[in-house]
Amino acid sequence: MKGPTGCGKSRFVEYMAWKLGRPLITVACNEDMTASDLVGRYLLDADGTRWLDGPLTVAARIGAICYLDEVVEARQDTTVVIHPLTDHRRILPLDKKGELVPAHPDFQLVISYNPGYQSLMKDLKQSTKQRFTGFDFDYPEPAVETEIVTRETGVDPGTAGRLVTIGHAARNLKGHGLDEGISTRLLVYAATLIRGGVAPRDACRMALVRPITDDVDIRATLDHAVDATFE
Ligand SMILES: Nc1ncnc2c1ncn2[C@@H]1O[C@H](COP(=O)(O)OP(=O)(O)O)[C@@H](O)[C@H]1O
Ligand SMILES: [Mg+2]
Repeated sequence: MKGPTGCGKSRFVEYMAWKLGRPLITVACNEDMTASDLVGRYLLDADGTRWLDGPLTVAARIGAICYLDEVVEARQDTTVVIHPLTDHRRILPLDKKGELVPAHPDFQLVISYNPGYQSLMKDLKQSTKQRFTGFDFDYPEPAVETEIVTRETGVDPGTAGRLVTIGHAARNLKGHGLDEGISTRLLVYAATLIRGGVAPRDACRMALVRPITDDVDIRATLDHAVDATFE
């Protein structure tokens, strides 16, 4: 799943797991992560050494959905441990333990990343990419996003609609000084503040504008859009 931050990728996987009635095991990937963090390792305790399965191994054994969030953050030599699991073999070799774990028939692997942040250093190998089907995610269209903000927070649809208008204005600035638009997640945060009694203009400044940019001119432009929307 590829798409900007806060557009609903993780929510989609959570919903899918709920709908299919499967356990979901989420791993937030980072560059310090090693293959052992995914697969498992021997631990020392009072009785000697004890093997502890990592999250990927647990998921493969019990037939869970394993979700590797922000997978491009992991180093490529870490990511290759999924290769034998994600082709016709469907096995996970635990090299250090000398065990081959056959994946449960229900085991599924989902990975996500934000292609906007991609650099040459942070990309998936073609050999990894070509083991998956791809799904493009983007911010929802205004009517749907308004419904999401309303349902997630309980604000009235009018307020939600105004927040969505501001979000769309900001998304048009992407590439013109903004690296990333105002996400659905931020609209939900702003609506939550408003629902809690914060004045809409203040809520928008705090939740929508200040987090995404330090550029004085762009802040002024967005603040202006906020003031025009919540008069
Ligand atoms: N399609 C959606 N349906 C319901 N809530 C959504 C949706 N998209 C985003 N949200 C809201 O935004 C927040 C962030 O979404 P999330 O799925 O965590 O984004 P991502 O994983 O793409 O960064 C969610 O917690 C939810 O409140
Ligand atoms: Mg996410």
